[in-house]
Order: sequence, then C-alpha cells, then structure tokens
Amino acid sequence: MNKILICVGARPNLMKASSLFRASKFFPKLQMDLLHTGQHYSTEMDRVFFDQLRIPQPNYQLNVGSGTHAVQTADVMKKFETVLAKRKYQLVVVIGDINSTVACSLVAKKLNIKVAHVESGLRSFDMTMPEEINRKIVDQISDYLFTTEPSANKNLLREGVSKKQIFFVGNTMIDTLVQNLDRIRTKEFIRQHHLMADNYAVLTLHRPTNVDDRIHLMKMLGSIASNTPADQKIVFPIHPRTRKMLGNRIHRLPKKFTIVAAQPYFSFMSLVYHSKYVLTDSGGIQEETTFLKKPCFTLRENTERPITIEIGSNFLIGKNLKSIRKKLRTFNVQKVKKPKFWDGRTGYRILSLISKF
Ligand code: UD1
Repeated sequence: MNKILICVGARPNLMKASSLFRASKFFPKLQMDLLHTGQHYSTEMDRVFFDQLRIPQPNYQLNVGSGTHAVQTADVMKKFETVLAKRKYQLVVVIGDINSTVACSLVAKKLNIKVAHVESGLRSFDMTMPEEINRKIVDQISDYLFTTEPSANKNLLREGVSKKQIFFVGNTMIDTLVQNLDRIRTKEFIRQHHLMADNYAVLTLHRPTNVDDRIHLMKMLGSIASNTPADQKIVFPIHPRTRKMLGNRIHRLPKKFTIVAAQPYFSFMSLVYHSKYVLTDSGGIQEETTFLKKPCFTLRENTERPITIEIGSNFLIGKNLKSIRKKLRTFNVQKVKKPKFWDGRTGYRILSLISKF
C-alpha cells in the first residue's frame, strides 16, 4: 500500500497521529494524507496539539463541531463520503474510539476501501459508554487491527476476528510521550502554577457518567477534596464539557483545587510527570501514568485498559475515594513494569506492516 489517509477528530487522536507522522520519514514511498473531522475544534482542545506535536496541516477539514452523537456521527459520514468518493486511497486509518472513528470507518468500508484501526480490541464491557459501542463496531468492520495490550488480542479473537488480521504493536500514545520526555521533565510549567514537585495531585474529569449530572459532579469533587491528603493541592485542568456543567458553581469549589484551563500537551504531561499522583476518568491518562510509573486513581467502575491495573500503577476506585490514602501509602514504584512494546517504536511497527500489506 502506498496511498493512505489518516483520520483524526478529537484531542486523544492527536498524540497517536503524531507518532505515525513522525515515523513516516522512514517510509518515503508511503503517501500519508491527513483528514480532520473537526469533532474538537477550539485552540485549547485542538490547534495547540498540532503545533506542539508537529502534526502536518490536514489535507481535508470537515469542520463538523459539536452535536448529539447522531448528529456528529452523521455529519462526519456525509462529509467524509464526499471526500473519499473523489480520491483514491488504498487504506483509511482510524484511531481510538471516538464518534469520528466509527463514522470514518463505516464510510470507508462501504466504499470498499480497506480500514486499519489503531488501538483496537480494548473493551470496558460497559455498553452504556459511547466509546464501547464505537469500538465494537469499528473492530467488526476493520481489515487490520493494531492492538496495544494482550487483552485486546483476546477480546478480538473472542469476537470472531481472524488471527491474521490482528497485530500486537504497542502504544502510539506512549511513542509521543517518549519522544517528548525531555521537554516534559522540565519544571517550567509547575513553576508557572506555583507548585512543588511531588506535592500535588492532578485531576481530570470529562466522562458523561461523571460530569453530565451537576449534583453528582459537585458531590464527587467534594469527596475528592476530603479524601486526599490535607497538605496537597489538586490541579484540575478543566475539560470544556465539565466547565460548562459547573457554570458559576466553579467558584464554590473547595480551596484545595487549582483550576486551570484544558492544558496543551507539554504542560499537561509535565504537570503529571511531577505530580504525586493522578485522579482521572480518561483512558489515555491511565496509560501515560503507567509508563511514568505514577499512581493513577481511575474514577470509573471499569477500564478497557486492564494492563494498567495488572502492572500495578492504576487503581480502579470508582466512587471508593476512601481508599486513596491507603493505596498511596502502600504503592511500590519498584514493582511497576512497563508493558510490552510501550517503547516509543509503535508508529514505526505500524507503518512497516502497512507498507507490506
Ligand atoms: C470526546 C470523545 C471521548 C474522548 C474525549 C476527549 C466521543 C463519543 N467522545 O468526548 O471519547 O475521550 O473527546 O476530550 O467521541 N467542546 C469545546 N471545544 C472543542 C470540543 C468540544 O469547547 O474543541 C465542548 C463542546 O461544548 C461539546 C463538549 O465540549 O459539547 C463535549 O465535546 P464532545 O466532542 O461532544 O465530547 P467529549 O466529551 O470531548
């Protein structure tokens, strides 16, 4: 294959696409174009990641923006079909589990274009999560499935995917972390926020089940504040969805919280790197903290990334915030090992496979 189209839509796709474009210099015969659906569009959620991670300008911009699931997915499909019908791509690469991923894969497949899925096979087994629905559909129709951890291979085989289509390659998000570690290690960002290394926590929250009910969200934040060590600040880079839900109540949050805007890649990862621990409902951050051997408390009832739990850096605590202090006391960094193929070379592995297909 030599003419491929990479599709991105929202923030977590961008770190992964960056790894593929960085690796593309080793494959000069491969023409790699980029399509952006525009699911995320604001500077803080999008533009700044293109600049920092040196992602090329998209060849196509669909500008779909926000909407309900049906509207967003349908808008991507309608606009993407017009693009794809006119151009000859041998392969469409979709990433992760967002609405743009499922929309682009459906359009490509129905135009008889091969589809590759990066970050395939992850399962939370929770069909109330929009991402789980997206993952299952994308994996059923993809031709090439690139996985990040052994559980994903097992899930795909159980769902009837042929072994020949599954490639355990590792984690493109970790590639980008490895590539930018020097920048992330600097303390300039934590100084800007008047923080001391190892003396604060980082919190992120954006899952609909956590943030879409204001009363639940306020209770959860109160409980986080009262169950984390008294002397530590909690830096809370706030996702636009969560910001919108909090409205004016943001001023009534406990003083422990240092609320900042959604951060660019370098400053966010640097905040995580120097923190004592992380509280999150994100998928990608569970992986990044595993690589950095940082305690991560996942504010969900399940995870589609069980390797992070097995390896010992991630604790699935759901609403059981009382367990944080104890787990912090007993956390043993020496026992945390990096998962196989989380080594900075996954983008290269993917492109070398693609160029042979
Ligand atoms: C989406 C993905 C989720 C991913 C997350 C990362 C789906 C189903 N969800 O959720 O898997 O973890 O991105 O952030 O695809 N908004 C802005 N600026 C933007 C984009 C959104 O302000 O650039 C606001 C809009 O008001 C929008 C809200 O954030 O209504 C939520 O955005 P949306 O794309 O619907 O979902 P996310 O919660 O970001």
